[in-house]
Amino acid sequence: MKPWWQVVVPHKDIKEGKFDESVFACDLADVVKMRAPSDYLDPEIFFKKTYFTAKLKMLLKDILLRISGKQTQGSVIQLTTPFGGGKTHSLLCLYHLFKNKEKVKNLSSIKELLDECGLSDIPEVKVCVFVGIQQDVLRGRSPWGEIFYQLGVYQEYKEYDKKYAPGKEILLKIFQEKGPDLILMDEIVEYALRASIESESFKEAFVSFFHQLTVAIPSTKNSSLVVALPSSALESYGEKGERILRELQKIIGREEKVYTLVEGDEKYEIIRKRLFESLGDVNEHNIIAQKYFEMYLQAKDSIPAFAVDASYKERIKKAYPFHPETIDILFERWSTISTFQRTRGVLRLLALIVSNLYKKRELSYLIHPSNIDLKDSSIKAEFLKHIDSRFGAIIDTDIIEKSSKIDKEIGSEFEKFKVATSLATSIFFYTFSGAVERKGTSISRIRLSLLQEGIPLPIIGDTLKRLEEKLYYLKSEGNIYYFDTEPNLNMIIVERQETIKDEDVELNFKNEIKNILGKEFEAYLFPTTSQDIPDNTKLKLIILKETPPNDYKNLEEFCKEIFDKYSQSFRVYKNTLIFVLPTRDEVFEVKNIIKNLLALQSIKNDDSLLNKMSSKNKKILEEKFRKIKSDLPYRIFSLYRKIYVPTKEGLKLYDLGMPVVGESLNLSLRIKEFLKEQEIMINKLDYNYISKNILASTEKKTFKEIKEVFYKFPGFPIPEDETVLKHSIAQGVNLGTIGLKKQDKTYFKKTISLYDIKDEDEILPSDMVKDVSNGPKPPPPPP
Ligand SMILES: Nc1ncnc2c1ncn2[C@@H]1O[C@H](COP(=O)(O)OP(=O)(O)O)[C@@H](O)[C@H]1O
Ligand SMILES: [Mg+2]
Repeated sequence: MKPWWQVVVPHKDIKEGKFDESVFACDLADVVKMRAPSDYLDPEIFFKKTYFTAKLKMLLKDILLRISGKQTQGSVIQLTTPFGGGKTHSLLCLYHLFKNKEKVKNLSSIKELLDECGLSDIPEVKVCVFVGIQQDVLRGRSPWGEIFYQLGVYQEYKEYDKKYAPGKEILLKIFQEKGPDLILMDEIVEYALRASIESESFKEAFVSFFHQLTVAIPSTKNSSLVVALPSSALESYGEKGERILRELQKIIGREEKVYTLVEGDEKYEIIRKRLFESLGDVNEHNIIAQKYFEMYLQAKDSIPAFAVDASYKERIKKAYPFHPETIDILFERWSTISTFQRTRGVLRLLALIVSNLYKKRELSYLIHPSNIDLKDSSIKAEFLKHIDSRFGAIIDTDIIEKSSKIDKEIGSEFEKFKVATSLATSIFFYTFSGAVERKGTSISRIRLSLLQEGIPLPIIGDTLKRLEEKLYYLKSEGNIYYFDTEPNLNMIIVERQETIKDEDVELNFKNEIKNILGKEFEAYLFPTTSQDIPDNTKLKLIILKETPPNDYKNLEEFCKEIFDKYSQSFRVYKNTLIFVLPTRDEVFEVKNIIKNLLALQSIKNDDSLLNKMSSKNKKILEEKFRKIKSDLPYRIFSLYRKIYVPTKEGLKLYDLGMPVVGESLNLSLRIKEFLKEQEIMINKLDYNYISKNILASTEKKTFKEIKEVFYKFPGFPIPEDETVLKHSIAQGVNLGTIGLKKQDKTYFKKTISLYDIKDEDEILPSDMVKDVSNGPKPPPPPP
């Protein structure tokens, strides 16, 4: 598979980016006066860049046959399309065909036409051209004067000029004498309109002339009249223009044959003809179409159904090197904007787009809507001609600046696809339409416009979410995405965020942590010296800030300091300390979330702002607030998931793992459960443990001393609380591995109550108990 720019070759001017946009607006009068661009002036170039649509062919054949006297049909023909649809282009075809017959008769396309008509040569005909837009109403000749002039009979009928048109009989006589004649008329609505401004009666004279013409021509043997009339004049000429158009249509309607010039997929062909010198190897087109088709089949649940129909594969071939959406959106949507002018507007834009992308040579197999480079000033300007100028700034901020930032954030292997920029560009492209009901589009169509080899489907949805969170003018309504000139809630939120103070964020950060701490341990938030953490037997959770206090290189060093020292002296109860550390790269994000939350809260409290806000935005606001609020504990659990635990070898780092979404624990409980799982903390101690590990066979210790061993020395399991030890002792006493001495009384192999064990009670190894119970050894019997 090759990228499109290795397959097709654009016309030279497009390739070099040196074309004049007038190349896509043909003017018949300029050609007559020999001052048009060579694309229109030079008959050979002109025909080379003309795509012969079915109707255009029929038109040319009809006229050829009529002029050569082989057919009576084709005397009066009306060409109709919206503005920029190809009327003038068709008139020009006729003009060059007959005016420059020697130059064009050997072109293969023309030869073919002649063959099909059974003609060996192009017949001789006098071509008269009337282009209303260029005709001077005030000083110039009248339309009939102009035609007489071109037929060389002006002097004879001079008195008619500027007054009344001669009747049918005179016209017929002139045409018969001078014929065969071919009269080409363009832009006559414009002429009639201007005439009516000058004088209503002159306009009437013109309409009447037009009428006479349409009845005189059919009476001739072999003359033709071809008139271009737009399908609507409302947008360009207003209501008056529209009325004139209807009047003219009614007149010509009696005789006419109507040609709608471009039908269905022919638009693709015209575009390709006008933009590309060569389309390259058709096999390449087929391979690409097949590839895309397969890709669409795989993604069929995520894209519109029409794209997985076999006919779409054909569309891809026909539109190649464009993705069909690129052309379809322009024709379906942009073309309905009155200033856009159908084919002409499409050609202009696509020429700029091809010119820009051909230079860039990005790896893309088709020209997708998402590939359009809105950074290119001419492309941007061309779009802006037809839409609210405020979109200029929206393109700059949302599509260029913010989206490319998101692309950088996504990073990794997908950065090259610029998914965010592509998405924003696509949505922009889909946003506009002259018809109200067609603003924006659904995610499935956006996917269609974007999907290409190497882009995983889910990344499109994920990135779209990010855009929704970050862009100011992107909106969605019932799953339809579009850009709007009114900013969305994001902008209000971001502006509000700027007013939130860092101290407030810090304070709230601390509070949010407090909220999830729970009560399993004594908690110490953000200590700055070892003295902040008391040295006692209580279990402590020490929550650290992301940065250590000034004197410490890093958090680990600071933890060690607390672990080893209490102020100036050595720390005694080391086995009571659990340090909780933030995951560094999440801190910033969590603080941002809190800032966001504070901004939302502040907006919620701002009544005057709320009053101005649409109810939809209010709903979004509430929704966002609720979601952030409910996600926050999870984010904090995730942030504080690393702990340092005392061991014989010093502090050891553990990771609690990611929290489970929706699990409503508190932090101290989460840590406690983890420590128990790891058997670092215990809720049960073997009855043998104390006798084996703490008491030597000749040593007794008070309960307090035993307890302290556990809380002082890392390496000993951390008892969840002191009853764990009491249990073990009571059991040991009962089973005879240790004894308990309360004041004078010693308990051994007896059941005792846990609650009876007091700090000052002594625990004895079993050997010592036996001594005690047997009393002091009697002196040896005297010999
Ligand atoms: N059959 C065709 N082949 C090539 N280019 C065409 C064809 N029809 C129209 N065009 C081009 O489309 C653009 C608009 O056509 P134009 O004839 O000016 O429209 P209209 O006169 O209906 O407003 C022009 O650039 C024209 O050259
Ligand atoms: Mg025209």
